Amino acid sequence: MINIEITAEEFEKIRKFVKAKVGISLSDQKATMVRGRLHKRLLELGMSSFSEYYRYLNSPEGEEEISNFINAISTNVTSFFRSPHHWTYLKENLNEIFLSKPNKKIRIWSAACSSGEEPYSIMIFLRENLKDFDKWDIKILATDISHKALAKALKGEYSEKDVESMQKAVIHRNFTPKKTPTGVVYEIDPILKSKIMFRSFNLVNDDFSIFKFHLDIIFCRNVMIYFDKETRRSLISRFAKLLNKGSLFIMGDSEAITENKNEFALIKSSIYKKI
Ligand SMILES: C[S@@+](CC[C@H](N)C(=O)[O-])C[C@H]1O[C@@H](n2cnc3c(N)ncnc32)[C@H](O)[C@@H]1O
Repeated sequence: MINIEITAEEFEKIRKFVKAKVGISLSDQKATMVRGRLHKRLLELGMSSFSEYYRYLNSPEGEEEISNFINAISTNVTSFFRSPHHWTYLKENLNEIFLSKPNKKIRIWSAACSSGEEPYSIMIFLRENLKDFDKWDIKILATDISHKALAKALKGEYSEKDVESMQKAVIHRNFTPKKTPTGVVYEIDPILKSKIMFRSFNLVNDDFSIFKFHLDIIFCRNVMIYFDKETRRSLISRFAKLLNKGSLFIMGDSEAITENKNEFALIKSSIYKKI
């Protein structure tokens, strides 16, 4: 078995690259993790050093590789109805957040949606809670940097284990079970899928001017933990410009807004309102 080591110099180059491209800050302690996670990828590509991989990442052909690279060093872990208190809050405040809207129009962004469980949970939540769901004009933009995660999201098929946290009746109304050679998969209702636009988007480097409308809610959960303070501050400020006064910004359980205090007010742990 070929063993490729990473030198301090190579780690430094990769660290700078990650910071500039995706805003992820890697501490010195992460050298072993980076080596461990990328080792297999180097072998797959037939490379014999991290310098060679670094040159590849920086070449025009390497543009596509950035997504694989991010997959290797960050996590795509997600689940349906993650952070139950977020859904409880939305349910308890259904009237103020949704029902009071005069035009029955809802626009939501699931930023860093991973393999789709988050945007599909939002759609399932809305269908389960808005009596005349069919009469609403609902659109969710769901974005992630990882092409692999987006491909799974677009497929919209989940294992029995993936859906097990939901009540049977909810699964029945929103998924179709399909037998496959490897077991049963649950396919999301195409009507729900058709209201979600999945796109590749790098939160750190891509252009926010593509947004031509304001959003009612932004979910940006469990991705900013990887970013440093300045990247987070600048990103949250760009999010703020897309929200109307009073609209919601929802972060991951262990995340909080520490800067941007003049843009957002805390309502409940990890749930903010645009000021
Ligand atoms: C842990 S998952 C969070 C998924 C979901 N939001 C949740 O809370 O369950 C983090 C996701 O962030 C994505 N990600 C990492 N850096 C990113 C960036 N710069 N721009 C967009 N997405 C990024 C990863 O590909 C991954 O799918």
